[in-house]
Amino acid sequence: MATPGKFSEKEINPLGSLDEWEDDLLQRYPDPDTIAKDKSKEEYRNYDDPARDTVREFYRLNHTHQTFDFVQEKRKDFLQFNRKEMTVWDAFNFLNQLVDDSDPDTDLDQFQHLLQAAEAIRADGHPDWMVLTGLMHDMGKVLCLFGEPQWAVVGDTFPVGCAYSDKIVYPEFFKNNTDYTNPVFSTKLGVYSQNCGLRNVSMSWGHDEYVYQMVKDYLPEPGLYMLRYHSFYAWHREGAYDHLLDDHDREMLKWVKLFNPYDLYSKNPTPPDWKQLRTYYEDLVAKYLPSTIKF
Ligand SMILES: [Fe+2]
Ligand SMILES: [Fe+2]
Repeated sequence: MATPGKFSEKEINPLGSLDEWEDDLLQRYPDPDTIAKDKSKEEYRNYDDPARDTVREFYRLNHTHQTFDFVQEKRKDFLQFNRKEMTVWDAFNFLNQLVDDSDPDTDLDQFQHLLQAAEAIRADGHPDWMVLTGLMHDMGKVLCLFGEPQWAVVGDTFPVGCAYSDKIVYPEFFKNNTDYTNPVFSTKLGVYSQNCGLRNVSMSWGHDEYVYQMVKDYLPEPGLYMLRYHSFYAWHREGAYDHLLDDHDREMLKWVKLFNPYDLYSKNPTPPDWKQLRTYYEDLVAKYLPSTIKF
């Protein structure tokens, strides 16, 4: 269940919308094509943007409260998948209840982002399971609809139970995390062993791990890596945590990297024509996924 009473409304929802985190990602990792089209990096960096302060506060909360124990608690609770059971199509409708109040005119709903990512992957001729991965990758954001704080749903993810990399955004906020001074958790390897493989590492809790666990029996391994680690920017963009990786992770990294631009750079103000696409996606979902999914 959510943690009623423990956090104030402002601590649960520090962001005006989940998009503020993604907009911040675009400032950190601008689209190389857009830069080439002469939109300078400086233009992206609008430091007067009030969203920057909310993103900072979001990361302060995220880095403070995502302890090793917090993650284990969330896993124990949410990985029972005992809340809801829906068809994928009902689940998209459910996800779309996450409405962005801050900018209703310009922002597309969650399903449009998923569809645009999927369509961009399809347009580049990638295999159909990767198109489906694009369609499903943010389904875990329904965690917000179960009352979870934004910082336990979105945001860059990172390993817990070992020292934090300074390649994680806003690393200074980890000083507020009780694990920071824990004699075990604060060492380089922490509770892990050298090159143990990411499958043995607990990541900060959020929509990546949740959607991975939801569909792990139905998609090929590279697709599962895309789902599970798409917000692990310290790894796939910054190259940190090599000491936790095994050869399989290193092999899979290229898939995670392949996926990332479709997530970050496929947003387009013009929604795809769903009427034309519907049959393709209904067949695709039916090909790989069971008739209902548990949440
Ligand atoms: Fe995501
Ligand atoms: Fe996304």
